[in-house]
Formats: sequence, structure tokens, C-alpha cells
Amino acid sequence: MRSPVPDYLVDVLDAVRSIDDGAPADYIEVLAKADTSRLAVALATVDGEVYAAGDSDVAFSIQSISKPFAYAAAIEDVGLDAVLARIGVEPSGNAFNELSLEDGTHRPMNPMINAGALATHALVAGPDASGPQRVERLRTLMSAMAGRELGYDEAVYEAELRDAHRNRGLAHMLRAGGIITAEAETIVDGYVRQCSVDVTVRDLALMAATLANGGVQPLTGRQVIHRDGVRQVLSVMTTCGMYDAAGDWVSNVGIPAKSGVAGGIIGALPGQLGLAVFSPKLDAHGNSARGVAVCERLSRDMGLHMM
Ligand code: DON
Repeated sequence: MRSPVPDYLVDVLDAVRSIDDGAPADYIEVLAKADTSRLAVALATVDGEVYAAGDSDVAFSIQSISKPFAYAAAIEDVGLDAVLARIGVEPSGNAFNELSLEDGTHRPMNPMINAGALATHALVAGPDASGPQRVERLRTLMSAMAGRELGYDEAVYEAELRDAHRNRGLAHMLRAGGIITAEAETIVDGYVRQCSVDVTVRDLALMAATLANGGVQPLTGRQVIHRDGVRQVLSVMTTCGMYDAAGDWVSNVGIPAKSGVAGGIIGALPGQLGLAVFSPKLDAHGNSARGVAVCERLSRDMGLHMM
């Protein structure tokens, strides 16, 4: 029997399969060797229906898609004012791995760039937390949003930590500016762990649907983050989630979103659905080239643009 939504999703994937632009991330050895033929999409409604097509059970590292969830955790754990005292909410217009501090302060411009994400990681689980407590807090929160226990891609963790010189540099600058007080090396280690959480597009679609559903996981009915925190997270995803392509993204797709260098992208449309796509080749902005095309198509076909 035909099943209209999955069949539609298969058609969407087939329509973008010929796009061969870009390349997988090359600065993390394991990601550089990714199978670039992989392509997957999943949608999860706020009622808990999940539709998927393509390589939807293939796991990959969450990478920067962890940043909005870490931001949500930091807001829960130390309060929004303490977070805003250390991390801004303005788009940087620069690449994700630039320092991008606000003029006249030591604050990173937003929590979606690496500098802001390192500062965010340092706030998770409160001021007295240890490195392992921060890491476990994030794994637990992301698992609650996915509706299953998530683990790590150890090979990605080890490869990234070995070559995390740029993030070490950023963390030391943040420590020098008083934005973080913990050891820079511990923060980088925890942040790299956070980025190595292993997910499928099904997991990510449910995590995004939890944001779309005001912090309530659609399958378990659990309020995993407060509604006020969700509003802040979705606002920053809208303006900063797709880095220096945020303007094009908001115009063409119009959904709060976040991308990761393993090739994943999530979108969360408040009150409606979460979506996730995966394909490893990245465009010049560091966003999955086919993933962006899938999202543009879904937004157009299904009228998902928020305006
Ligand atoms: O900090 C890094 O370099 C990575 N762990 C995460 C970067 C990332 O996913 C950027 N997204 N497009």
C-alpha cells in the first residue's frame, strides 16, 4: 500500500540526489572519509508522528546541532541573565570558527558559533559542575529530547580532540577575557564530547519537534526544557543557526534551524513539526549542500515558511 508522506519524502530525496556540490568536512579526519552518497530526511510532528526516508537509520555525529541544546541547558541551569552576561545574540556574519567577540566586550557574539558554544558549554550544569557532569547533563538532555538513550561516536571524538587546536585557541581567549573560569582544556574536551553524540535523522527530528512543541517531547509527553528557554533557543537559531548563510536561509526556508559539519541540519517550526536532513557534502558556508536543497523543497511544497 502506498503511504503518501514517506513516498513524498522519497521523491524529494530523489530530486536532490544529483546535487554533487561541496565536500565533507576535512578538518576532522573521520568526517573527511564519510560516505558522501548518504542522504536522509525525517519529519516529526508535535503529535509524535515520525516520517522518514533514505538512510534514516544511519548514525552520524551531531556536531554543531548540539549547540542549541547546550544553550537550552545553560539557560535552565544558570538562568538567562547569567547566560546573556557572557554570550550575545547577534549574528556574526563570519565563519563558525572565528573568534567573533562583540566590540568593547569579551562576549562571543552568539551561542551558535564555536566561541559562543564553548562559553555556553562552560555554564552547563551550573558554576560548580565538573567536566564529566557537564558532559552527562548534555547527553541526558539530548537523550530525553530524542526519546532514547544516545551514545557517542568515539572515533569522531578522538579525531576531533587530537586536532582541536583552533577551539583550544578560542577557549584560551575566552578564559583570558574572563568569560570562562574553568580550565580551557577541560571545556574543549567537554565541547568535543558534546559534538560527538551519535544521532540519526529520526532522533534529530524528534529533538527538533521537542523545540517546536514548547519543550515537551512529543512521544513521552515530558517537559524537558521550559517554554521560555525554548523561545530564546528558537530565536537565536533563526538569526544565527545557519552561520553566514542565515539571511538566505530565512528568506528561502524560513524555519529556525541549525546545521552541523557532519552534514546534518535540523529545523523546528513552532507548533507544527521538527525536521532533520543528512548528507555529508558541505557548501561554502559549512552547511550540507543537499540538506539545504531538501529543506528549501520541503518548505516550498508544504508551506512551512513562518511568514
Ligand atoms: O567545533 C567544531 O569544529 C565542530 N565540533 C563543530 C562545528 C560544526 O558542526 C559547525 N557546523 N556547521
